[in-house]
Amino acid sequence: MYSENNEAHSGEAAEDLLPLSASRLFRPAKTFSLFAFSQESPLPPSRVISFPEIFGNEAPVEVEIGCGKSRFIIDRAVKNPGIHFIGVDYAGKWLGIGRGRGEKRKIGNLRFIKAEAFELLRDYFPRGRVSVFHVYFPDPWPKKRHWKRRLIRKESLRLFYDCLCPGGLLEIATDDRDYFEVMKQEHSLSGLKWAGVRESRNERLFEGEKTNYEAKYEAGGRPLYYLEFEK
Ligand SMILES: C[S@@+](CC[C@H](N)C(=O)[O-])C[C@H]1O[C@@H](n2cnc3c(N)ncnc32)[C@H](O)[C@@H]1O
Repeated sequence: MYSENNEAHSGEAAEDLLPLSASRLFRPAKTFSLFAFSQESPLPPSRVISFPEIFGNEAPVEVEIGCGKSRFIIDRAVKNPGIHFIGVDYAGKWLGIGRGRGEKRKIGNLRFIKAEAFELLRDYFPRGRVSVFHVYFPDPWPKKRHWKRRLIRKESLRLFYDCLCPGGLLEIATDDRDYFEVMKQEHSLSGLKWAGVRESRNERLFEGEKTNYEAKYEAGGRPLYYLEFEK
């Protein structure tokens, strides 16, 4: 499951990505776990994951961060058997529901990782390997003192960028207009040179499957905001 030269990434991302207090607050468990069907393997601290070892070949890998109950990633994995998928969430309750659904349908190209997203990307993910990151309806954390918990910040944009392969995509959706504006500001502040940036309102930029929140909000007629970065 881990690469031969599984040195931890050192000094590649800001050490202060999460302040210690927030980091403790976020961390759902002392160890992160990879779930392959009903088997759970703890991830040893700071070892870089090898996707071919997890999946058995070099096919492209898409990752959904904050997958919740996993409606989107399950639908997408079923429709795209030639692509590998990883659903990531730190909330065992939501991840457990998605895992249960995925396992029941015996979806061979889908795995789940229970982990805090920043730490996972910073310490465990190989650089230049993910073809698409999906980040849909991340919690907006409206109170200023909680902004450090937001999934889309300039520091995390750098991590997504580094983990994407050339031409890779970062797909984002939110129903929170203020957070959407902040995301674009964070993009400007990050100084990253993406090959393309697109945005839209009420029009999905990436193929059709919907997340649980998306389906619910769409049915309620709520305006939805989409952002896409191409490396
Ligand atoms: C509002 S829900 C959206 C769920 C799903 N993406 C959807 O659209 O239906 C946000 C999800 O992100 C997860 N999450 C939030 N912050 C996270 C973090 N730092 N690391 C991992 N998961 C996180 C939460 O546990 C929750 O399941």
